Amino acid sequence: MTDDSVFEDAPPELRDLLALASDFAREAGRLHAQGLHSALRIETKSTPTDLVSHIDKEAERLIVERLREVRPDDALLAEEGSLLDGGSGVRWVVDPLDGTTNYIYGYPAYAVSIAVEIDGEAQVGVILDSSAGRMYRAVAGHGAFCDGERLQVRDQTDLSQALVATGFAYAAEQRERQGATVAKVLGRVRDIRRSGTAARDLCHIAAGHVDAYWELDLSPWDHAAGVLIAREAGAEVLLAEAAHGRGPAVVAANPALMPAFVEVLREAGALV
Ligand code: IPD
Ligand code: CA
Ligand code: CA
Repeated sequence: MTDDSVFEDAPPELRDLLALASDFAREAGRLHAQGLHSALRIETKSTPTDLVSHIDKEAERLIVERLREVRPDDALLAEEGSLLDGGSGVRWVVDPLDGTTNYIYGYPAYAVSIAVEIDGEAQVGVILDSSAGRMYRAVAGHGAFCDGERLQVRDQTDLSQALVATGFAYAAEQRERQGATVAKVLGRVRDIRRSGTAARDLCHIAAGHVDAYWELDLSPWDHAAGVLIAREAGAEVLLAEAAHGRGPAVVAANPALMPAFVEVLREAGALV
């Protein structure tokens, strides 16, 4: 259930974008549900363990077609290769199915993630955890909510008591380095979780289901919506220089935990 009145103070343009992103997410979520009962057509992408199903592609096509109909001047970047130019200053960043490996195995942790940027800044974030039927949404400056309930990060201040989430890349070499980092972090925190969906991990920071999160090698569609949702729930989120792999590391925690968390990630070899 979503309650749009929680965003009633947001500007009308952002409320309209939020409503549209929410519709797209629900439609993609319905496809996820239908696909569970069909024979999935599965291919590999960057490595033999990097999978994609026809549902990933159909969910992306659906969102792209709907966007073209209603906002033909907007740009779009989506994981399965869709790239649209646009002159409106608005760009949609879409992961049509985050947690594809989970989805293919029927492991109940997957989502659709949609961020809407204006002039390069995320203004609206919508993540539908379609495996659980929960909708996480944020509007810049107007908070983050899950099904109408305001989200707030946990107030943990002691890293040794922190429950920490992370995830791994698809390239074997990078995974080995990530495993070595995890081995070092594990003795410094309460415990570690690996859900297999980065977008939902960032929602879980926002909801206080974990205290902190880091991951290397994410792509914009994995984190664009989740970073806004986490920040609007009071998390500090850094796009920090990673010690290995490609692109920045995403590091999220409540602001009180962040200095100690970054220090541990440096000592463990994740950050420079
Ligand atoms: C993956 C998931 C996973 C993360 C990987 C991502 P995909 O996205 O978010 O949790 O660890 O880095 O690539 O491939 O399932 O959309
Ligand atoms: Ca993803
Ligand atoms: Ca995906």
